[in-house]
Amino acid sequence: MRNWRWVFTMLLYVGVVLKIGALELGRAQQTERISGSAGDVLEDDPVGRLKVFVYELPSKYNKKILQKDPRCLTHMFAAEIYMHRFLLSSPVRTLNPEEADWFYTPVYTTCDLTPNGLPLPFKSPRMMRSAIQLISSNWPYWNRTEGADHFFIVPHDFGACFHYLEEKAIERGILHLLQRATLVQTFGQRNHVCLKDGSITVPPYAPPQKMQSHLIPPNTPRSIFVYFRGLFYDVGNDPEGGYYARGARAAVWENFKDNPLFDISTEHPTTYYEDMQRAIFCLCPLGWAPWSPRLVEAVIFGCIPVIIADDIVLPFADAIPWEDIGVFVAEKDVPNLDTILTSINPDVILRKQRLLANPSMKQAMLFPQPAQPGDAFHQILNGLARKLPHDRSVYLKRGEKVLNWTRGPVGDLKPW
Ligand SMILES: *[C@@H]1O[C@H](CO)[C@@H](O)[C@H](O)[C@H]1NC(C)=O
Ligand SMILES: *[C@@H]1O[C@H](CO)[C@@H](O)[C@H](O)[C@H]1NC(C)=O
Repeated sequence: MRNWRWVFTMLLYVGVVLKIGALELGRAQQTERISGSAGDVLEDDPVGRLKVFVYELPSKYNKKILQKDPRCLTHMFAAEIYMHRFLLSSPVRTLNPEEADWFYTPVYTTCDLTPNGLPLPFKSPRMMRSAIQLISSNWPYWNRTEGADHFFIVPHDFGACFHYLEEKAIERGILHLLQRATLVQTFGQRNHVCLKDGSITVPPYAPPQKMQSHLIPPNTPRSIFVYFRGLFYDVGNDPEGGYYARGARAAVWENFKDNPLFDISTEHPTTYYEDMQRAIFCLCPLGWAPWSPRLVEAVIFGCIPVIIADDIVLPFADAIPWEDIGVFVAEKDVPNLDTILTSINPDVILRKQRLLANPSMKQAMLFPQPAQPGDAFHQILNGLARKLPHDRSVYLKRGEKVLNWTRGPVGDLKPW
């Protein structure tokens, strides 16, 4: 009896000590992944760590474009709009540019849509150039650094390369005037001319309310082994085959179309979101670009993303433990996808599913209205805060010029 009471007291004591330890750890390691183990989202709070000045531009650079086509609010490039709205009422916003760490120029470069809803970025370089011309002549801050303390949201397929075809995007390269700025973009691939050092890779926009409205009970059994809906071939743009998805999607189809473990098709069913919640693995292969909204959908619906896109740079890769959550399959290994996935240990699968169930993981993938702690807006601010203080080299000497205003395709120099 006495002994038992002693053990009980010890347990209580150990519990209290551990708790205090954890609290102190949390405080001491503010920029580490908390809880000590891998698998957690980096939980920084950006407030108080940076100040952002939002340039006021004529509405033709933002609101008017949106008015013309409200579909921009729901497509996968909508982050440029929501980030603008978020910053206007964010506690990190400062109205005094003299005390700003970062300058933000609200231009909606991907909101010029075809009747079919495809954003054509052909006017984007002119529009961006025009906006930069405007801020550099009306305020003194651009010329001080030629944009090195400015950030831009460029969520198009290949970011500030402003073309939807990779070959053309590479040929164009990043718009010269943005060479010194920090780019916040969905495009992420290592050693690619359209991703420069210091960029912040973000998830594409996926509508939070819509996904929320399709949630099914969380304990629904996952009876689908592998799930995918989307194109395998893009005959219109790649009639010979082999370019689209560098052949990886075609390989998925050719190898597994008759495999009962693979629920794959080009048909997009109305139960798409529900199906993802009934699946263990969701394929996230590259398309024309390495990224797609499937990655966000997989995380939200707790389906382990199988990432097939060599050299992809994933959203907020410094804050989110992608290696722990997802499965990475090299493009050349697609023919062995069945063996690769069936040989993953059930314990590993359970662990990935548990990590995916972590609300902070989902939160970081979303741009919710209103914003919430830890969401994608906050992750972007954290990324900007981690780049502070600016190196002294960002400030140019009086009269010094680095950028060439007339560089780039002649078509880009026309006024917008
Ligand atoms: C910034 O530099 C450009 C020329 O490079 C000049 O036209 C402009 O007036 C300058 N802006 C300010 C605010 O002085
Ligand atoms: C700026 O770029 C244009 C077009 O490429 C080129 O003709 C010009 O020489 C460049 N100017 C400087 C100062 O390098």
